[in-house]
Amino acid sequence: MKKEKALEEIHTRHSLICQCALRDTATRAVWGNGNADADIVFIGEAPGKKEDQEGIPFVGSAGKFLNEMLASIALRREDIYITNTVKYRPPNNRDPLPQEKLDCRAWLIDEISLINPLLIIPLGRHALEYFLPNARISEVHGQLFETTLSDFGKRAIVPLYHPAAALYNGGLRATLKEDFLLIPKFLATLRKSA
Ligand code: URA
Repeated sequence: MKKEKALEEIHTRHSLICQCALRDTATRAVWGNGNADADIVFIGEAPGKKEDQEGIPFVGSAGKFLNEMLASIALRREDIYITNTVKYRPPNNRDPLPQEKLDCRAWLIDEISLINPLLIIPLGRHALEYFLPNARISEVHGQLFETTLSDFGKRAIVPLYHPAAALYNGGLRATLKEDFLLIPKFLATLRKSA
């Protein structure tokens, strides 16, 4: 079966079985989106208002900023895959609760193991905690880590600040843009050793 079709089946299955309480308040599930054969998977926090309306991750202002940064390294959304720790919008965009993340975790694990990317980019602390549980984003952003986790397997990680956090903070914005420019170099290293 082609990867795309298998990915669609993962989303369809988890949409039916996911027990996350955010289902009660969200308009719809926001599935991961992009290239099923991508070398890079970006993982955000949770859908916002626009994502909840459209059913596509990162289509609001954080998404526009992300698209600009992708363009700065000659990537388009079609080249990457992007998803979130939780697939339903939390009310008023509050942080997802531990139980909500836990209830959506199997969904994320299935997406990642199918795509099996060379590089995972957690955007912000909620996605970061899955891969480097005790790390602080302010200390690890823009660095390459290789880690082996019981449910995500052997993974290369480059944590970045979340684009929404950087959107209105000039300092973080500059740091995120600089970190982004390091991605091609990390990817080339990983391709060589793959
Ligand atoms: N922020 C996220 O973390 N995810 C989205 O899909 C949009 C904004």
